[in-house]
Amino acid sequence: MNSITPQPGILDIAPYQGGASHVAGIENAVKLSSNENPFGPSEAARTAFRKAAFDLHRYPPTDHGALRAAIAEVHGLEAENIVCGVGSDEIIAFLCQCYAGPGSEIIHTEHGFAMYRISALANGATPVEVPERERVTDVDAILAACTEATRLVFVANPNNPTGTMVGEAELARLADGLPPQALLVIDGAYAEYVEGYDGGAGLVAARDNVVMTRTFSKLYGLGGLRVGWGYGPGHVIDVLGRVRGPFNLSSAALATAEAAVRDTAWAERCRAENTRLRGWLAEALAGHGVPSDTSLANFILARFADADEAAACDAWLQSQGLIVRRVAGYGLPACLRISIGDEPSCRRVAHAVGQFKAGAR
Ligand SMILES: Cc1ncc(COP(=O)(O)O)c(C=O)c1O
Repeated sequence: MNSITPQPGILDIAPYQGGASHVAGIENAVKLSSNENPFGPSEAARTAFRKAAFDLHRYPPTDHGALRAAIAEVHGLEAENIVCGVGSDEIIAFLCQCYAGPGSEIIHTEHGFAMYRISALANGATPVEVPERERVTDVDAILAACTEATRLVFVANPNNPTGTMVGEAELARLADGLPPQALLVIDGAYAEYVEGYDGGAGLVAARDNVVMTRTFSKLYGLGGLRVGWGYGPGHVIDVLGRVRGPFNLSSAALATAEAAVRDTAWAERCRAENTRLRGWLAEALAGHGVPSDTSLANFILARFADADEAAACDAWLQSQGLIVRRVAGYGLPACLRISIGDEPSCRRVAHAVGQFKAGAR
């Protein structure tokens, strides 16, 4: 017998469930369950990755200087206000580790990204779920939920898995209304999909209580490499830099992400194709009696009559070699989240949903 126990909160964590990638008995199933870029990384990024193979015996730079400079240049930001992490998941984890702990509260929205709750619990903090209004972030509900214990407020914009977003004026109102000890984190994992949207960078620059997180996993097609970043006021970047491991990003990840962010033409092509196919798929699904909110991201949250219908449609899609995401764990049992694939995948999924609605099982 021993009395070895984990820290408070750890055993309350339900481990994160990633999107499935295989269906038993089906070869080459189409994966539309993890919001990945179906076109993959740009050729420049692939070349940078291959080149990095020759220097793998060297430790990577610790300051991420070249990648931060490239991000700053492309997005019009200050390099010294950027911190890079192993996916934006790591930036979320740093924020919870640095600003929350036992006795503090971390607010996330009703259908917010699962890692906010996991990171809160991992640090002994209390996650507080705030209702959304018809699957859209409700700023008034968040402000009403703030207490003296609130340290962090996470808002994904656009949100996953709803695909909806709120405007800059709403987020500014939220930042301005927070208690003085609380930091607003705008999670911009899908910000690049929104034409002309800065992901919250303007709010960060104008305030000292706003941080933005971003990722290379979505538009840049580098989910497998694990690179994300945060942009924040100097006092926050200084704090996060103290807990960040010196070699958290590999040299291959740094070089590939730098090439990816500089290839703005590829990013633009992927964004435009996503917008085109997202509109087409939403309309096709609606035509089959499956509505969705207007999505600003690289997925659609398809709404079914009830949880049974959503589960039956998911099973039918799987039988057709199409893997989408069940989102009951996000409080949306009657919905399926469908990532925007390439054109043949979008056509296949629309066709299969149509067959299902016409009675196929
Ligand atoms: C809203 C949101 N934030 C953050 C992430 C984490 O992305 P990554 O750690 O790959 O950068 C995801 C991934 O799905 C997401 O949907």
